[in-house]
Amino acid sequence: MSDAPLLELRDVSKTYAAPDGSPPVSVLRGANLAVARGESIAITGPSGSGKTTILNLMGTLDRPDAGQLLLGGRDLSRLSERELAEVRATSIGFVFQSHHLLPHCTVRENVLVPLLARTSRPGAAAEARAIVLLERVGLGDRLDHLPGRLSGGERQRVALVRALANQPSLVLADEPTGSLDRASAAGIATLLRELNREEGVTLVVVTHAPELARQMQRVLAVEDGRLVPA
Ligand SMILES: Nc1ncnc2c1ncn2[C@@H]1O[C@H](COP(=O)(O)OP(=O)(O)O)[C@@H](O)[C@H]1O
Ligand SMILES: [Mg+2]
Repeated sequence: MSDAPLLELRDVSKTYAAPDGSPPVSVLRGANLAVARGESIAITGPSGSGKTTILNLMGTLDRPDAGQLLLGGRDLSRLSERELAEVRATSIGFVFQSHHLLPHCTVRENVLVPLLARTSRPGAAAEARAIVLLERVGLGDRLDHLPGRLSGGERQRVALVRALANQPSLVLADEPTGSLDRASAAGIATLLRELNREEGVTLVVVTHAPELARQMQRVLAVEDGRLVPA
């Protein structure tokens, strides 16, 4: 059983209705993918090719028009909105291009936010783990800082720790180095790979950056609505 993929896309299609009455946009046309537990994957492709669409589907933030997504063997199309929210809160961590940290909450509070979605009060063990991760990414002395006082690279490291706080089985990152300078981007790329290896978390990273894509075990591209080896 443990050999079963953590995540599977089977003939997934997605079309968006155009708001202005022009023809609908067919973005995904039969995308297939199997992601093993602990694997790290980069998804590349030109702007508008459907990378964010794929991540949103993987993250249960959207549903496909046709085809199936399976997470841990569960067919996501059979789950209610409530069950999907539970899957997101317990199994998936998100990292976005822009960090989306809460500006009035400290670094410590920001990384504890996902834990609040599970229980009203994060347990001491979960909080301790989050602090260890912040130390691990070099932010141990910034716990009580507000995001506004951090550099872009530091904020993105906080966002990374926040995504890992719940010990998710899957972390989805959408151009996580897209708004960073080269040195910060390289730091995030290294960190993602180390966390993948050390935490055993499965990683799907959308990126334009070859330096980041290279750090992943497998690199795919979105081409004509499908996922192909890059
Ligand atoms: N909610 C939406 N409604 C309509 N069109 C959308 C929507 N989201 C994305 N699109 C269109 O789908 C295509 C793929 O978008 P996206 O997945 O964001 O691409 P990428 O992340 O590769 O740049 C683009 O043409 C985009 O304009
Ligand atoms: Mg995108």
